[in-house]
Amino acid sequence: MRLVVAAVALLILIAQVSSQLLFPVNQLPFRLGGNSTAAGGAGVHWVEKRVPRIAVIGAGAGGSSAAYFLSHFAQLKDLGLETDVTVYESSDHVGGRSNVLWPWNDDPLVDPRPLGATQNDTEYEPPVEMGASIFVSANSNLQKAVREFGLELDAYGGENGRTAVWDGERWVYEEKGAFGWGWWSKVKAVWRYGRSPFKARSLVKSTVDNFLRLYSADFVSQGAFASLANFSTATHLAGPASHYADEYLTHSGVGELFTDELISAATQVNYGSPITQIHGVGALVSLAATGATSVHGGNRRIFEEFVGRSGARLRLGETARVQSILKLDATKGKRAQWVVKTTSGVGGGTYDAVILAAPFHQSGIQVVNAVAASLIPKQAYVKLFVTFLITNASTPQPSYFDLPPDTHMPNEIFGTFTTPSRHKPTFNSLNYLKPLPAALGARFGEGTFHVVKMFSSRSLEPEMLDALYGRGNVAKVVEKVWLAYPELRPVKSQGDFAPVRPDEGLYYVNGFERLISTMETETVSSFNVVSLLLNDLFDYTPPTSWAEWDDGEAAAS
Ligand SMILES: Cc1cc2nc3c(=O)[nH]c(=O)nc-3n(C[C@H](O)[C@H](O)[C@H](O)COP(=O)(O)OP(=O)(O)OC[C@H]3O[C@@H](n4cnc5c(N)ncnc54)[C@H](O)[C@@H]3O)c2cc1C
Ligand SMILES: *[C@@H]1O[C@H](CO)[C@@H](O)[C@H](O)[C@H]1NC(C)=O
Ligand SMILES: *[C@@H]1O[C@H](CO)[C@@H](O)[C@H](O)[C@H]1NC(C)=O
Ligand SMILES: *[C@@H]1O[C@H](CO)[C@@H](O)[C@H](O)[C@H]1NC(C)=O
Ligand SMILES: *[C@@H]1O[C@H](CO)[C@@H](O)[C@H](O)[C@H]1NC(C)=O
Repeated sequence: MRLVVAAVALLILIAQVSSQLLFPVNQLPFRLGGNSTAAGGAGVHWVEKRVPRIAVIGAGAGGSSAAYFLSHFAQLKDLGLETDVTVYESSDHVGGRSNVLWPWNDDPLVDPRPLGATQNDTEYEPPVEMGASIFVSANSNLQKAVREFGLELDAYGGENGRTAVWDGERWVYEEKGAFGWGWWSKVKAVWRYGRSPFKARSLVKSTVDNFLRLYSADFVSQGAFASLANFSTATHLAGPASHYADEYLTHSGVGELFTDELISAATQVNYGSPITQIHGVGALVSLAATGATSVHGGNRRIFEEFVGRSGARLRLGETARVQSILKLDATKGKRAQWVVKTTSGVGGGTYDAVILAAPFHQSGIQVVNAVAASLIPKQAYVKLFVTFLITNASTPQPSYFDLPPDTHMPNEIFGTFTTPSRHKPTFNSLNYLKPLPAALGARFGEGTFHVVKMFSSRSLEPEMLDALYGRGNVAKVVEKVWLAYPELRPVKSQGDFAPVRPDEGLYYVNGFERLISTMETETVSSFNVVSLLLNDLFDYTPPTSWAEWDDGEAAAS
């Protein structure tokens, strides 16, 4: 989905439109890294002759990039930052919530490409994204990965046609052509929103501009964060994160009509929540969609490259499911160690550090002999139904929306749940992704068949789909249920965030999702975790981010 819609981006936002310096150098109100942690301890530095062994649990955006960043530092000459890394991933693919499918095939999850075929294979119809679908120009780590790994980008977009925002009763907004970021320039012509689109746009722009400072040498060389509360304070995200988006936007001068009709549609498709149930940061991220793209063949290819190029040992599949991690307390002058056990009983081991890169309360992992588990707050995730349809209807039926039969229908529809309507939408979004090539379409009947993607908070009944697309017009339905992202309630106290280092030698990537949940920010979080780990073990602080690393020079310094 092009726009607003699928648009999860990334960014960090500030409360005023004025461009204040987000991270004034050398003026941070507190010490970073080292002793600033609330929980756990840094432990003693690495003194042994052997290289430290590190387990990474989870190979999504967070875990795969953690393995890659560790190998990046290990390769810096003469710095002694070598690590021996094992990645545990219990599913059958690398990428986690970044995954693809071929819904038109008998087994939608199996890549139909013959072994050895290249991406150029003309017979090959690329898959569609099942989870995380887009990233944006401000996503520096992912953009660098795409360049370095020689991956091809697809501009984000579905079939051409009209876009509408539906509130369950009527279209509250309708437009011909792309609803892409050009969206804003068109919306501003809508007089009924007054100056609100401008206000929102400048909030987002300054947020993105400031977000980019996160990658700078000035910022990174201050040291890693052990506390996300500290991070959100330093990045001026604490304000918008502590309020519901509707309050935050009203307070920032964005009008209610615009917020209820359009911004709420953006948060609904990005985070499955209306603006009344999501914090301000979630809304700003939902609007930062400049330069939305995805990787040809699937975003997960970035994460496959991360793991592959890291040289880490990859344990993949159900037998690699981690069941427990047990802390071996430190003996005098040494560090604590962790015993990782799998449910299958094979492939476990003893490690000097563990990077947990999966939502803890979904991972089923038992933490033995450590208080870490009690320090990670329980986090509810949004249950999201993603439905793929193969249909020969070229648009949804007007009758479903109580419209006259000759209505020129949109093929991209976003739901908003916050306007005063008598009925609420029956889905969050609907998007015609692409027509199937004739050879594939012929499997389903005559004429053109389309691939349509829908998001909803419940399973879509066959009767509902018949009414929406016309009886007999839906040839196939594939449903995927996700625990997609956290419910982003306002952050009211420090305790709402999980510690980055819940214990000595234990690091947690996914606490970051409480602030922002995107592919890019999971790599930002994993970089911070790796940086904290290197500081704990080797007293080393990266001079700059991976995204801004000058591969020629920084290694020498
Ligand atoms: C439908 C949908 C749409 C989205 N849209 C976007 C978007 O457009 N853009 C965007 O940037 N983000 C989007 N997101 C959010 C994005 O997917 C996540 O923020 C990000 O991918 C999370 O990455 P992660 O590595 O932290 O976690 P995950 O991707 O969840 O990875 C965790 C991994 O750990 C593994 N694991 C769990 N428990 C164990 C265990 N006990 N042992 C071993 N392995 C284990 C899991 O199998 C999984 O592979 C979307 C998410 C969904 C679901
Ligand atoms: C923490 O602070 C103490 C006392 O100031 C100091 O001795 C110690 O080295 C610090 N530890 C780290 C990891 O910075
Ligand atoms: C794919 O095709 C393009 C253009 O024809 C070519 O430049 C490229 O090298 C090909 N890639 C592979 C992997 O064959
Ligand atoms: C940073 O975190 C520590 C511990 O969580 C806390 O005591 C301190 O007040 C925080 N500082 C800021 C500026 O948030
Ligand atoms: C779709 O295909 C079915 C079965 O072949 C057919 O009955 C129906 O009329 C087609 N609908 C459209 C809109 O072409």
